[in-house]
Amino acid sequence: MRVTAQANLRDLAAHGIDPARLPEHVAIIMDGNGRWAQRRGLNRLYGHRRGKTSVRAIVQLSRKLGIRYLSLYAFSTENWGRPTDEVSGLMRLLKHYLTTELERMMKDRVRLMVIGNPRKLPKDVQQALRHSVEQTRHNDGLTVILALSYSAREEIASAMRAIARRVKRGDLEPEDIGEDTIAQSLGTAGIPDPDLLIRTSGEVRLSNFLLWQVAYTEIYITETLWPDFRERDFLEALREFQSRERRFGGVPEAPADQGRLRAAH
Ligand code: FPP
Repeated sequence: MRVTAQANLRDLAAHGIDPARLPEHVAIIMDGNGRWAQRRGLNRLYGHRRGKTSVRAIVQLSRKLGIRYLSLYAFSTENWGRPTDEVSGLMRLLKHYLTTELERMMKDRVRLMVIGNPRKLPKDVQQALRHSVEQTRHNDGLTVILALSYSAREEIASAMRAIARRVKRGDLEPEDIGEDTIAQSLGTAGIPDPDLLIRTSGEVRLSNFLLWQVAYTEIYITETLWPDFRERDFLEALREFQSRERRFGGVPEAPADQGRLRAAH
């Protein structure tokens, strides 16, 4: 059954989605903006601009569904290697998004977080980010995690440096370094790992996104380009997610245990 674009909570069951088994954390690699534009003979920036509309739509829907965390790969460290006009266009779009969405975020109780190295971004973008993060920090609805100037390997290296400093100071014994020590030293400290990772535009790779955090994440790849990815596509991804059996390396469980396993993750 196809889901409709106007899905609301009441419709979820009709579309085969169980509102009680929605993922807590969805991460998205938003890919295909450039191709979307090029296929129409347009500058790549048009694709990014239209991609911004998809961001708005997916944030809105995630909030309405009660999803707790939405991580969006908005700009990788590798993206700095793109032509200057594309990078500056993306920065302008980001600043525009932050300034125009803040009021709505406050109204909808959306909290904004940033992972990556925002200090590399233009000063005015940094300022807009700081302002939005600060203003929304006590909001208790959906948390949107923007990955900006982000590299998962660098995030892990940075966590290792922080842990090494604690060991050097004598605050931590090497034997006491466990998975949790590392998880709590990442940019995503305190946030549960993604349950679902969506990648648009058909590429089948992780592209240095949340490498530590996606160890047990279900991966959903769609051919749809990010600027075309809207409510119905997101709902399709949720439906597919719910059709999978998550075993976390274990064996299939008795139905009565399913709630417990999910609660543990
Ligand atoms: C990948 O498409 C997308 C990006 C590098 C940037 C993502 C940015 C947006 C969705 C717009 C604004 C973001 C926010 C948070 C408001 P690509 O250019 O690599 O596409 P291609 O693979 O087809 O070239």
